[in-house]
Amino acid sequence: MREFAADWETLKSTDPEVAGAIASELERERTTLRLIASENYASPAVLAALASTMNNKYAEGYPGKRYYGGCEFVDVTESLAIERAERLFGAEHANVQPHAGAQANMAAYGAFLEPKNQEQKVLGMVLAHGGHLTHGSPVNFSGKWFTFVGYEVDKDTEVIDMDRVRDLSLEHRPKMILAGFTAYPRVIDFAAFRTIADEVGAIFMVDAAHFIGLVAGGAYPSPVPHADVVTFTTHKTLRGPRGAMILCRDQHAKAIDKAVFPMMQGGPLEHCIAAKAVCLKEAMQPDFADYAHRTVRTARALADGLAEEGLRLVSGGTDSHLALVDLQPIGMTGADAEKSCERVGIALNKNAIPFDPLPPATASGIRLGTPGPATLGMDEPEMKEVAHIIGEVLREPDEEAVGDRARARVRDLMKRFPAYP
Ligand SMILES: Cc1ncc(COP(=O)(O)O)c(C=O)c1O
Repeated sequence: MREFAADWETLKSTDPEVAGAIASELERERTTLRLIASENYASPAVLAALASTMNNKYAEGYPGKRYYGGCEFVDVTESLAIERAERLFGAEHANVQPHAGAQANMAAYGAFLEPKNQEQKVLGMVLAHGGHLTHGSPVNFSGKWFTFVGYEVDKDTEVIDMDRVRDLSLEHRPKMILAGFTAYPRVIDFAAFRTIADEVGAIFMVDAAHFIGLVAGGAYPSPVPHADVVTFTTHKTLRGPRGAMILCRDQHAKAIDKAVFPMMQGGPLEHCIAAKAVCLKEAMQPDFADYAHRTVRTARALADGLAEEGLRLVSGGTDSHLALVDLQPIGMTGADAEKSCERVGIALNKNAIPFDPLPPATASGIRLGTPGPATLGMDEPEMKEVAHIIGEVLREPDEEAVGDRARARVRDLMKRFPAYP
């Protein structure tokens, strides 16, 4: 009998169309430079756990307290994930079951807030200034069911203005204050947020989806000592399977666990949870700290290189894994820049910038991140080269010779730093 059930050859013969698309995706990942700030390369060990028979198991409840029999082995992996998350981040309690970041945020709001209660406000960063859809956007459950008040970055510095956050908190007396971002290049002053939350008696929540892997590797400040609750996805800088987790203080553990199950979710995805345990073990190794620091170092090198190419960086640079470029001075939209880069094998995304006059589908900016290149081992010299390629492509997007040269340089770079060799 085999000890591992998933089988690639069987998939190829059972469903060649799906197998073909999966093989093409691997080839795309090997030949495209991944600068999408929210993406990464999960390790072969993480991918193996995802393809395991733990996919087959129903395990509603928590380790030791399940609504199904036969949970002795998924209890092992879920307990490992919980213990490792608590140890790695110094947290009092971890829930590793959220299927995704949106569900983790939904559970965190559900633990502390009543829906459609206008007295219970949440202060969060507005989407166009770096917040996430689930931080109160009117098209998302967060904005439809909960009462959000948005804070913005300062118009001149383009960083979060803590005096403004405090003024809004004193004015609105929110039940919850939320920090965290999807497109903000700087560090967040978690201690200052905590002080404001204490002043108005608010719960302090951090959505650390983007930067949690940097926290694990010691390359970004940890929100855990300051926040009541921290949510994050496991597939971005943390480099694990798609999914999410919630960390919280002991006093909130029961409310968080009940909000995840049975309030928001049914059966946990135990194969994903096994993969989360693996990625946490990887994140405890010394080479993960090297990767986290390389990620920030390369983001800085990329930002500096783009500035040398004459592009304007929102807030003037970065302290994290991502940079935001304002394309207004060169008269290009984010959507066009995204397409021009895609044509030469560079994947990045159009992004709204603070006070953006364009709608999000066009946008005046692009967001670039380095978790992917840092995982492949690229460092500052490669990012300088990439900045130069992007600079040329954006200056002459319609010049065929420029495109051809850029495409060849990207291919060469990906050969030197292969994905899944
Ligand atoms: C800050 C933040 N929170 C939540 C999410 C949502 O995560 P998911 O796509 O897993 O639902 C994202 C995803 O981009 C994010 O950037």
